[in-house]
Amino acid sequence: MEVKVVVKPLEAVETEVLVVTVFEDKLNDNARIKSLDEQLNGKITQLIESGEVQGKFREFTILHTEGIGPKRLLFMGMGKRQDFSLDRIRSIAANASRYVRRIKISEMAMPDFAHLDVSATDCGEAIVEGILLGMYRFDKYKSKKKSPERKLETIKIIASNEGEVEALTQSAQTGNTLASSANFVRDLVNEPSNFMTPTRFAELASEVASQQNLKIEVLGREEMQREGMGSFLGVAQGAEEPPKMVVMQYIGNPGGKTIGIVGKGVTFDTGGYDLKPSSGMLRMYGDMAGAAATLGAIQAIASEKLPINVVAIMGLTENMISAKAYKASDILTSMSGKTIEVLNTDAEGRLVLCDCMTYMQKYHNPDILVDIATLTGAAIIALGRTVSAVLTTDDDIYQRAFAAGEYTGERVWRLPLYDEYRAQLVSDVADIENVGGRSAGTITAAMFLKEFVDKDRPWMHIDIAGTSMMEEEIARYVKNPYLPKEGGTGTGTRLLFHFVKSYIDKA
Ligand code: BES
Ligand code: ZN
Ligand code: ZN
Repeated sequence: MEVKVVVKPLEAVETEVLVVTVFEDKLNDNARIKSLDEQLNGKITQLIESGEVQGKFREFTILHTEGIGPKRLLFMGMGKRQDFSLDRIRSIAANASRYVRRIKISEMAMPDFAHLDVSATDCGEAIVEGILLGMYRFDKYKSKKKSPERKLETIKIIASNEGEVEALTQSAQTGNTLASSANFVRDLVNEPSNFMTPTRFAELASEVASQQNLKIEVLGREEMQREGMGSFLGVAQGAEEPPKMVVMQYIGNPGGKTIGIVGKGVTFDTGGYDLKPSSGMLRMYGDMAGAAATLGAIQAIASEKLPINVVAIMGLTENMISAKAYKASDILTSMSGKTIEVLNTDAEGRLVLCDCMTYMQKYHNPDILVDIATLTGAAIIALGRTVSAVLTTDDDIYQRAFAAGEYTGERVWRLPLYDEYRAQLVSDVADIENVGGRSAGTITAAMFLKEFVDKDRPWMHIDIAGTSMMEEEIARYVKNPYLPKEGGTGTGTRLLFHFVKSYIDKA
């Protein structure tokens, strides 16, 4: 999709469809729309006064015009002025582009939001993200594709003045990068586990590495054995598919700050001998969403050439049942030397992550360590399907993650890591247990990981179990137009990008 930034009065923009946003309570308060209205002899005012256009959020109305630049006006309801946000821009951009695609038009135009104090640096990104995320489809396995004859090929962003053009163009480019990475993450998540094996994931990561000129290493079972990664390998033991650990490195600021990101990449989680019931197993091909978000993030960071360093580690394996599989009450020795009593084979994510985190700290010594994982069903119980859980002992890290969440719409909320939760993980026979009982499941999972973080190393854990996949039943009330109704949401990549970006000035 091509993005053009133009500076013109709305009535002079040559376009098939011009998006006109209308608020519910403060109608027609914008000079550019007033001038458009005048050219149309007050038609817009009429539509609003007659109640045909009410400005309710997600409402849309089409008007065919004559004698002015835009052939059609697409009125998009923005809801109440006080509810206006960057995320609403994403939402209406998504709705508008889907509508335009449905009527088989390949081009549309949308004004910036400078009159609402949305900076050009934010605006282009939100518009382009909304469009690209909103038009996403996973139809690789459909013989008969729902493909429209035409797809949206060009989007014109109408700048309110020359001074905005450069920044709008830049931010539209960033939006393109971020949405493309997030859509790539959605593809990775949506692929079933018979395709998206650890080996396949590692191959795709290698492709990303060569496109972006990143260093990459892929460790197999033997290399991991040599490193003493007994915890990770305990999980991998039952799988025919060979496990992989992918290590990628982006150097954007030699000698500067390094952020380490570790992602859980369980390409299928049966639960192991603590077998999941069939309903719970159904979507477990998506249990690699943390690794996917990690790959998407380093791809986007490298593509945007952020002046910072990032090391990404993806721990990839299946969690299966077989005569070789690990069993409840097995004791594993992790790379850190700590021994782990496995009380539940379904709490496998933390067993994979802890060794990846030890490896990251030993060989890459990151200034900040982040891990991201579909770790606990309890995160869904605590925060639902639109907010990811963040756990950290570092207030500054949390502030940055929270700000990145608000900015991207990939919201996060903090849960505590008080010392007393550690008592839930005390083992009689080993250094630690891998489960902490029914209460505070998301917290005890993070407390487990915390045991593997070096003292004084700033660290944050992100649990995306609730946010990484959408289901039709949930989409009905979440109603986010730029998220798919079913399958991978791509969450994590845009969040991590902006989180990492927040460190640039300090680096
Ligand atoms: N992959 C699951 C967590 C999950 C659940 C992700 C639902 C997405 C949706 C994880 O490996 C798991 O099974 N966790 C257990 C931990 C328990 C055994 C302590 C859980 O949440 O039930
Ligand atoms: Zn599990
Ligand atoms: Zn899992």
